[in-house]
Amino acid sequence: MEATEASSTALAETPARSLAPDNPLLALERVYRTFRQPGAGMRRGGRVTQVSATHFRVRGLSESTRLGDVVEFRGERGNRSGEIVQIGVDDVIVAPYEKCDDIVLNQPVHVDRGVVIVPDEGWRGRAVDALGRPIDDHGPLPRGVRTGEAAPVTPSPLARQRVETAFRTGVRVIDIFTPLCYGQRIGIFAGSGVGKSTLLAMLAAADAFDTVVVALVGERGREVREFLEDTIGEATMAKTVAVVATSDESAMMRRRAPDTAMRVAEHFRDRGHRVLLVLDSITRLAHALREVAIGSGEPPIARGYPASVFTDLPRLLERAGPGTDGAGSITAIISVLVDGDDHNDPVADSVRGILDGHVVLERAIAEQGRYPAVNPLASVSRLAGKAWRDDERALAMRLKAMISRFEDTRDIRLLGAYQAGTDPELDQAVRQVPVIYEALMQSPGDPVSHDPFADLARHLKSREKPVERPAE
Ligand SMILES: Nc1ncnc2c1ncn2[C@@H]1O[C@H](COP(=O)(O)OP(=O)(O)O)[C@@H](O)[C@H]1O
Ligand SMILES: [Mg+2]
Repeated sequence: MEATEASSTALAETPARSLAPDNPLLALERVYRTFRQPGAGMRRGGRVTQVSATHFRVRGLSESTRLGDVVEFRGERGNRSGEIVQIGVDDVIVAPYEKCDDIVLNQPVHVDRGVVIVPDEGWRGRAVDALGRPIDDHGPLPRGVRTGEAAPVTPSPLARQRVETAFRTGVRVIDIFTPLCYGQRIGIFAGSGVGKSTLLAMLAAADAFDTVVVALVGERGREVREFLEDTIGEATMAKTVAVVATSDESAMMRRRAPDTAMRVAEHFRDRGHRVLLVLDSITRLAHALREVAIGSGEPPIARGYPASVFTDLPRLLERAGPGTDGAGSITAIISVLVDGDDHNDPVADSVRGILDGHVVLERAIAEQGRYPAVNPLASVSRLAGKAWRDDERALAMRLKAMISRFEDTRDIRLLGAYQAGTDPELDQAVRQVPVIYEALMQSPGDPVSHDPFADLARHLKSREKPVERPAE
């Protein structure tokens, strides 16, 4: 050891300037510098001691790794990686990213540098998996330039710009009743098949955004293709990065996809883009988080969900929002699956608290063929106050009151227990609400609405049952 020290000092002190550029001593010095740091050139490793369907144990890494570190190993079908999800005295538990039925006992496992997602302008228009590898047929992805700066940080609450610049989504029922602002986080709540994904795609087509990042978690493969090619459409896809983890991928990939999507969104936000992040669905993300946490031994607390699920979800959503001065913003629209009429679903409950608003879709409305099946009475945008002009707010309130009157009396009217002419307000509601409903119907291929209030007024007028717009 001492001898090495002495000779290396001598080497370091050799006056480099006096040597020719191709002198072997210089090459030797370069090699020496590479290996000078302690541990350089060596990879920490261990060996597999137990294998189960979704996890395996590795001995020899306990003292040198941290939670979330990525390890690499060789399966029969090539190099694979996984993440350390639990550390014990004797061994660590690794959850592989891909199915690993070819792992054998005693197999070596090495600590890897980790998955580094370095997005690039050229990612727009592309679809990637949770590890940032291309999954479309457009060839390799351009590698982003690693600037050496650390991963983007979530701005502190006080450094953030305020959320107060409204934008139009082009979807009339949203822009009238639950108008949104840049940097807002909003949830679309509904059972399955009620139109969440379709509404998300329509919102993604809003002109208001420079870049759209779509995270599709736990969907079937066929649905993903339909969503990207038909529902989102070519025009929006050109500025979209899709991050996909389908239902047949491991829980680790499904858990990771929203994180990767957020990383991409942060990249574009820091370059000044107004980014829309669409996550479909957060419930499936919660399922993946649950699967991984339970597999690594965490006890379930609420309906089978371990506690960490309810800290991981806010941590992810907190990364959306407005950026610091000069940066762009990340507006997040996420879908939440509400099974049946289960309003006590712990995921829906906890997510509702983190969001700045929720849009509720109802099966009964969809069954009437009224799409998007939004119930405006149950939907709230906490930033609507900032988004509406005064006259728009007044009109929206009047429309809500009328719709509420109409829906409350539906049964009475069906029974024939109401006679027209006794209540002028109700008469007006009965006349106009069906026309309003008609005006709010919109499908993905329909033209977007630039002034939803004007569109609505025009529609009512065309039916010659005018509702007067308040003076501006
Ligand atoms: N805006 C819409 N216009 C017409 N049909 C719609 C609309 N939204 C949803 N649908 C219908 O509902 C079906 C299910 O919608 P989808 O968005 O896949 O629901 P979810 O994501 O909630 O499961 C679609 O296949 C379509 O037939
Ligand atoms: Mg869907």
